[in-house]
Amino acid sequence: GTNPGQTLLILGASGDLTARLLLPGLGRLLDSGGADGLALLGAGTDDWDDERWRARVRESFGTPGERAAQVADAARYLRADVTHGADLKRLLDACQGEVIVFFALPPSVTAKACAALREIGVPARTRLACEKPFGVDAASATALNDLLTQIVPEAQIHRVDHFLGKSTVLNILGLRFANRIFEPLLNNVHVASVDIVFDEDLGLESRAGYYDSAGALMDMVQSHLLQILALLTMDAPPSLHAHEFRDRKAQVLRATSVWNDDPVGFSRRARYTAGRIGDRQLPAYADEPGVDAARHTETLAEMVVAVDTWRWAGVPFRLRSGKAVGNLRKEAVITFREPPRTPLGLTGPERPDRLRIGFTPDRLDLDVNINGPGDPFVLDPVTLGSEFGPGDLPPYGEVLRGVIDDDPTLSVRGDTAETCWRIVEPVLAAWRADDVPLQDYPAGSSGPKDTLLP
Ligand code: BG6
Repeated sequence: GTNPGQTLLILGASGDLTARLLLPGLGRLLDSGGADGLALLGAGTDDWDDERWRARVRESFGTPGERAAQVADAARYLRADVTHGADLKRLLDACQGEVIVFFALPPSVTAKACAALREIGVPARTRLACEKPFGVDAASATALNDLLTQIVPEAQIHRVDHFLGKSTVLNILGLRFANRIFEPLLNNVHVASVDIVFDEDLGLESRAGYYDSAGALMDMVQSHLLQILALLTMDAPPSLHAHEFRDRKAQVLRATSVWNDDPVGFSRRARYTAGRIGDRQLPAYADEPGVDAARHTETLAEMVVAVDTWRWAGVPFRLRSGKAVGNLRKEAVITFREPPRTPLGLTGPERPDRLRIGFTPDRLDLDVNINGPGDPFVLDPVTLGSEFGPGDLPPYGEVLRGVIDDDPTLSVRGDTAETCWRIVEPVLAAWRADDVPLQDYPAGSSGPKDTLLP
């Protein structure tokens, strides 16, 4: 290969994120021919040896092909306290070639590890890859960015948002910018409203340690859903090079804020009570082990935002995500305005035209009205739809490819991470002040009924 060799140093190697998401993504990336010349070094506080780590890597790789198996067999593990400079120095010295430090750690530990790295310094061209949440508000996001950029320049920092590695999310780009027929309609002349919804049937899944201090707004809306919003609303970039693509996203996000500047009227929070989803009986969120019910952490968050640009001014965007919701909805739905008029003599159930981009499963649907069967002067709604297969790589494989190839296109830029906090902060403040009641919904239901759209 042409690659001079590099080492992926995973801090938090024995953790859940590494096993469930990072390593499976890496295995697939390797077997697709990516990550040429990569060595894998795991580090953590667990007293593991190379063999134990290799077994973990192989297990997470699933059924690896030849390239992934080679990397697993050569993987090394070092026990280390990654908040200590001396330990980090030992880890950096054990890396060959360029170093990619992946912080698969809770945010507070990541911050300490970064502070230690700043003291000891890192080799030239080192990349840092961090997981959300990038801070807990705009001020802490700024502080984290200051710290990170004292270690390496912004271009070498990868803030991972795995939704940007989802093939259907990326499909928004092809749909919008490689067709003649949608883009001219995507503006406030023709669009009535947009919904970006990610309702999951999963509950807490033993993640109280993280989730109970985050909640749905931080976990999903501030991060993933705002990235989808940016892809849906940005102007066409001349290329998908990192600076063009990320500039376009940053522009629309800077123009985005809570609808009417009214976080009380245009946000909603709710928490699931006990209920059944399929054959699973879920306890109330408040009764889950590790949850402090008095924190009032929401498991469903909703907010309406405006994208105040020439193109989108006046169009409400509703962002919503809930856990333990019975009917899965993971989609962006663009609802068009009514036609200027329908010729007299054509009657029947007209519904608005809708373009639905489904994220799981990956599909596209266009709802239109036609004359249909039966009486030719009575309209019938039909849906033109198509489901397509997943991408070659799972989302983590796709984002890891960017990190390893030194291409930050799919990474969240520092200023954008701060902007996304600025967008949700008024809502967080209103919730903290108890200005918005915490509603209930039974697990397995479709969540609070009424809608927030203005
Ligand atoms: C993660 C959130 O970032 O995304 C989880 O922390 C959520 O709470 C998950 O379940 C959803 O992503 P995916 O790819 O599993 O659908």
